Amino acid sequence: MLKVAVLLAVLVGGFGMSGMVGYAETQTGAKTLKEAVAGKTLIGGAVMSNHLDDPKLAALIKRELTTLTGENDFKPQSVQPEKGKFNFEAADKIADFCDQNGIKLVGHTLVWHSQAPRFLFEDDAGKPLARDVALANLKAHIDAVAGRYKGRVIGWDVVNEAISDSPNEYLRNTPALRAIGPDYLAMAFKYAAQADPGAELYYNDYSNENKEKRDKCIRLIRELKAAGCRVDAIGIQGHWMMEGWPSTQLVDEAIKAYAAEGVKVMITELDVDPLPRQTQGAAVDAREQAANPYPKDLPPDMQEKLAKRYGELFEVFAKNGNVVSRITLWGTHDGMSWLNNWPVRGRTNHGLLWDRAYNPKPAYEAVRKQLERWEK
Ligand code: G3I
Repeated sequence: MLKVAVLLAVLVGGFGMSGMVGYAETQTGAKTLKEAVAGKTLIGGAVMSNHLDDPKLAALIKRELTTLTGENDFKPQSVQPEKGKFNFEAADKIADFCDQNGIKLVGHTLVWHSQAPRFLFEDDAGKPLARDVALANLKAHIDAVAGRYKGRVIGWDVVNEAISDSPNEYLRNTPALRAIGPDYLAMAFKYAAQADPGAELYYNDYSNENKEKRDKCIRLIRELKAAGCRVDAIGIQGHWMMEGWPSTQLVDEAIKAYAAEGVKVMITELDVDPLPRQTQGAAVDAREQAANPYPKDLPPDMQEKLAKRYGELFEVFAKNGNVVSRITLWGTHDGMSWLNNWPVRGRTNHGLLWDRAYNPKPAYEAVRKQLERWEK
């Protein structure tokens, strides 16, 4: 065992991770996340291209994860900030990293109301474009972006967060909806299927495990299919709280309800927030004022609570292992999480599996244990 530990320490050190040779898993020879779940499901993270310049982080990704999602770099605002002026530098860097390291790339996202340039669906004054102009812009965007990464992404979040959070409204009132009408979703799925016929096509949203939004999401799946679209999976983002929401029962019911519609389920943006907040889900504009209770590390009792919660959630995924085809963490280590700025700006948050020193937290162990029990 000592020999193995020394050999691994040398190898790991050789990949620029000399700060991590004390890493318990490497020394005990226990499986990494990707080894634990090999051949059964995919386990991923989200990155911005500049994160890949950090050799310790790159090594962690290569060791633990089988997929990567671009956290921001494939979004419309990033790749086409001005009409016809594309910038693929950051997205290419992530795609190249994936290609070079045998990591599967997930495309996020072709259509979203946030981080989207105005010109796609509105004029300079904010008025909706004529339907045919908006459709032409939508097609041009999807052709260019999905076309560029054809054969390199395993799937696209074709449309993100199009369902309304309001009880009496079905679709979110977005620039795309106002310019094109409700069939903008079907058109986006059709354009994406044409641009990269081999890519899977996903609809991705937050809080769509909640009964009301889940019902709307099922309505959407049925409407898309009735319109002749291929929908391969529903993404349940999973920006969840450590306490109170959602119950594991709710998550289990949602996975089963989507599976009954004949689609796969992916947990696409998982984090578990150990800090108190009012906002459920991930409405991007939500802002709250609150204290920053753990500016350094999470205390041990909180670490244990977080581990218990992660373990319970992954137990649900593992038991639905024939349906849950990917789990992606929204970030990598805690220092790289959007939760440090949402819904409270500038908090030190701790919602992922690795701490700021890249070390696995108790939650990592809880997750790995469940991944090893994956039922296929
Ligand atoms: O790049 C600029 C930088 O130049 C500027 O100095 C800085 C000042 O605030 O902002 C930087 O842009 C930020 C960007 O992340 C990159 O760091 C934006 O302000 C910030 O709003 C943006 O947040 C992203 C958010 O989507 C935007 O809507 C988060 O990183 C990203 O994690 C988050 O991801 C979304 C998913 O795409 C969809 N589901 C919900 C999820 C969480 O909101």
